[in-house]
Amino acid sequence: MSVQPQARRLTLADLGKRHQAGEKLVMLTCYDASFAALSEAAGVELLLVGDSLGNVVQGQDSTLPVTLREMGYHTAAVRRGSAQAMIVADMPFGASQISPEETFRNAVPLMASGAQMVKLEGGEEMAETVRFLVSRGIPVCGHIGLTPQSVHQLGGFRVQGKNEADAERLLKDALALEAAGAAMLVLEAMPATLGEAVTNSLCIPTIGIGAGAKTSGQVLVIYDMLNISAGKKPRFVKNFMAGAASVQAAVAAYVQEVKAGTFPSAEFSY
Ligand code: KIV
Repeated sequence: MSVQPQARRLTLADLGKRHQAGEKLVMLTCYDASFAALSEAAGVELLLVGDSLGNVVQGQDSTLPVTLREMGYHTAAVRRGSAQAMIVADMPFGASQISPEETFRNAVPLMASGAQMVKLEGGEEMAETVRFLVSRGIPVCGHIGLTPQSVHQLGGFRVQGKNEADAERLLKDALALEAAGAAMLVLEAMPATLGEAVTNSLCIPTIGIGAGAKTSGQVLVIYDMLNISAGKKPRFVKNFMAGAASVQAAVAAYVQEVKAGTFPSAEFSY
């Protein structure tokens, strides 16, 4: 009788090896146990418990009302539903735009709920906080470009880094976050050329959402790519449900296209 090795959860070291090997990384948002199990079975490597749950689960018009307690609740559900995928949890609005010490305190319940990494929005100004968390055992994913928690400051959900000065600032932000110890960086809504330039300037993987095909991996909001979220969708969202026989087949098609580097094509890029 042969004993099958138990599937184990993806670690930062595994992720680093895949990135070094030039493999594209597949991330998808996830808010509950059922979608966690389904996404993992379809090959998703990174489950992001995004504060986009404010929009797609709670019906809010922004991510701002989402609380730390709610993030912990959904993170725990995703953890229970999965066995292999790496779990990344968003720091909600107000939980990280404070001192490094308080941010650490706020990250603790997310890690205790099963996250392996927290994601926080912002550039160079977050570097000190990132350094503080990382040096105390909490892996951090940065998030630059269109940062939805700053929607009122940005004046809407707009593509970022379109002019030279903004592009340079974003590149500087990315380098500062990497130097502070961030393990990964989400790049949201920027020209594909900038997504590529930032990716090529870093050693850590970049995960794009509307940042072109040359980032190290991709992420989408699951309800968007299944075409079940309400309202107009951003250009970078592809409806993977079209022509798919099941939800799992749609997620598997997304995984396959990201791994092959065929998603996003120019149609879904800026
Ligand atoms: O909350 C979220 O879903 C996100 C993705 C858009 C990257 O941060």
